[in-house]
Amino acid sequence: MSIDFRSEAQSLQAEMVERRRDLHRHPELAFQEIRTSGIVAAVLHDLDIEVQIGIGKTGVVGLLEGRHDGLTILVRADMDALPVQEANQTDYISETPNVMHACGHDGHTSIGLAVARILSKHRSRFKGRFKFVFQPAEEIGAGASAMVADGVLENPRPDFSIGLHLWNDLPVGQVSVTPGPCMASADIWRCTIAGYGGHGAAPHLAKDPIAAAVQIVSALQTIVSRNLKPLDGGVVSIGSIHGGDAFNVIPPEVKLEGTIRTYEPETREMIHQRLAEICEGVAASMGCKAEVEITLMTPAVVNDQAVSERIAGIAARQVGEQNIRQDVCTMGSEDMSRLMENIPGCYFFVGSANNERRLDFPHHNPRFDFDEQALAIGAAILAEAAASLGEG
Ligand code: NI
Repeated sequence: MSIDFRSEAQSLQAEMVERRRDLHRHPELAFQEIRTSGIVAAVLHDLDIEVQIGIGKTGVVGLLEGRHDGLTILVRADMDALPVQEANQTDYISETPNVMHACGHDGHTSIGLAVARILSKHRSRFKGRFKFVFQPAEEIGAGASAMVADGVLENPRPDFSIGLHLWNDLPVGQVSVTPGPCMASADIWRCTIAGYGGHGAAPHLAKDPIAAAVQIVSALQTIVSRNLKPLDGGVVSIGSIHGGDAFNVIPPEVKLEGTIRTYEPETREMIHQRLAEICEGVAASMGCKAEVEITLMTPAVVNDQAVSERIAGIAARQVGEQNIRQDVCTMGSEDMSRLMENIPGCYFFVGSANNERRLDFPHHNPRFDFDEQALAIGAAILAEAAASLGEG
């Protein structure tokens, strides 16, 4: 294949910037991406790509056939924004109060459309087919599952799934392609501690769920420090604790909730088990009763070794070997993992920070913004990766 993906992407830079800024002005929350998905469907349609709308509520799928029979490559971009009030002062700030593209998904959508344009322009030269997946509701971890339920992984079933995230932890120009696990599984745990309410002056007549809750909070810290293999990764966090309304009343009940993050399925299971044992056991020792409920959100994002190597090679040719990293891992989660379950794939990070221009606020910050040069870099790598994997 003698297509210069880098210059193809660079020639679409102005278009990508314009589209990204337009999406930035009009951000939409999870499953409300009506305007965004309308734009995506219209652009794909204009490119003569077969379009399906309403896949996972507001998701859009475009199917592009190459010249020959070959493999099917899923290319994913997420579209949703966050409930954040933007604090930037650019001329493309959000026009919707309390909604902002504070994670860069405006950039992802714009990159996804540029990739579709590049691949569609050269369609007669490619083997295989490309499934462009514009996903809603990544921020609430629900969009990918909704699209899977609506059949996004069937007819045709992808042979590979790829995608990227603009990443402000890395300077623009750098790319991290991490083989193996790079983003964590995420679960929500909830614990209800039932005691026996009473007068604050007569604790001996009550069963105090607050006293039990503080022991539980403390004992939960031993899961990571004492039960986790020291070189494995895992997090147990408590995000909310509620109980009681008055200074002289021992409440009948306390509710705790938090999140569990892991890379390995065995670690995930171990934490679920220990969390239940600790909550129930400690509560019982204090005369209370704990009920634990764990809601599975997303599995870990685990990059296929071979696919990661190929994409790292492509990225190295485009941005230089010295700008390739393989070490970016986070305990953040990503429902891209749902599109990679049992399908080899790779989700990589495209550096987007620029310290000098103060385009380096963290993701989800009210002042988040990124260096738009990352758009062309991301589009070039993603397009070449899709084309290359399609060849088999
Ligand atoms: Ni994101």
